[in-house]
Amino acid sequence: MGYIDLKNRRILVTGAAGFIGANLVKHLYADIGDVIVIGIDNMNDYYDIRLKETRLEEISAISSFAFVKGNIADKAFVTETFEKYKPQIVVNLAAQAGVRYSITNPDAYIESNLIGFYNILEACRHSYDNGAAGVEHLVYASSSSVYGVNKKVPYSTDDKVDNPVSLYAATKKSDELLAHAYSKLYNIPSTGLRFFTVYGPAGRPDMAYFGFTDKLCKGENIQIFNYGNCKRDFTYIDDVTEGLLRVMRKTPDKVTGEDGLPLPPYKVYNIGNSNPENLLDFIDILQQELIRAGVLPGDYDFEAHKDLVPMQPGDVPVTYADTSALESDFGFKPCTSLRTGLRKFAEWYKAFYM
Ligand SMILES: NC(=O)c1ccc[n+]([C@@H]2O[C@H](COP(=O)([O-])OP(=O)(O)OC[C@H]3O[C@@H](n4cnc5c(N)ncnc54)[C@H](O)[C@@H]3O)[C@@H](O)[C@H]2O)c1
Repeated sequence: MGYIDLKNRRILVTGAAGFIGANLVKHLYADIGDVIVIGIDNMNDYYDIRLKETRLEEISAISSFAFVKGNIADKAFVTETFEKYKPQIVVNLAAQAGVRYSITNPDAYIESNLIGFYNILEACRHSYDNGAAGVEHLVYASSSSVYGVNKKVPYSTDDKVDNPVSLYAATKKSDELLAHAYSKLYNIPSTGLRFFTVYGPAGRPDMAYFGFTDKLCKGENIQIFNYGNCKRDFTYIDDVTEGLLRVMRKTPDKVTGEDGLPLPPYKVYNIGNSNPENLLDFIDILQQELIRAGVLPGDYDFEAHKDLVPMQPGDVPVTYADTSALESDFGFKPCTSLRTGLRKFAEWYKAFYM
């Protein structure tokens, strides 16, 4: 694999005010220091905009960070941004996330995840025009949801994933296909990352650990899908940003195939804890940590606030990442325990909301 020294590189991060994006920007400056990061985000109101503003405020304090507000589905905007900043590494995290929302708001997924990603690919392609050095590595977010109702666990990137069970999953799988075609046609080194349920402080309010906390604080009931018979591979945010940094530094090899044409410099990896937790155990740890952080009182009647309900459309009973390729190619395996991660989340929640 090729090696990229990230020092002094121009790095474009889309979705920079998002959960993973903002943490990646912070991690880049904390770890590498001398980098020039350009962040794009359209600051949409899919969830509480204050969270995006707070994250953006924090990273905007870094002097060599530049923020450009805009929509990646706007081709002229993406082209102009690439022409102005000439990014050498592109990390595409901007997307419409969430499985359930794709049932009520499909347009948002087609716009951001398909048209938006296509615009990023086109901009990468044209970054080499007139002999320019252009983009050295495109890293983009895929999702564990591409595995659908895969029976075989752990989920491996060698598994066939042609049976998405949500529009969100279908757009993410499509992104991998588009990236493959562009890598093959234009020799763009690209790496897709299938993230597994990423959580942590200032995370996404649409995700279970955050939504449960909000509801319990308001005295509302939480809905436990599939009667609690679910397993999730939870991945702590710091593990994800560490993985991203390592992946950004190493590009898939450019090799010539038997036909004399380049083989696509293309890879896809899982980033997950490879340690699925039972939903009810996860709720138990969350309860304990919410009490410990002082978010909820020690005598809170959790049992009275739980509704066991059937599976939701688009949901899957288990997610479990095989991370052997990540380990062998990058010497890295996410390892933060759920208790440690939920403790950090609960402490952040107390400080932010209470
Ligand atoms: N968090 C997870 O558990 C998880 C799991 C699997 C995959 N992913 C993927 O990782 C990426 C980042 O996820 P996240 O959890 O940080 O989500 P997020 O919603 O917090 O971040 C995405 C950011 O992109 C921005 N955005 C959306 N559409 C845009 C557009 N068209 N133009 C410009 N900006 C746009 C949003 O405003 C948001 O700030 C996404 O691609 C998501 O699908 C996340």
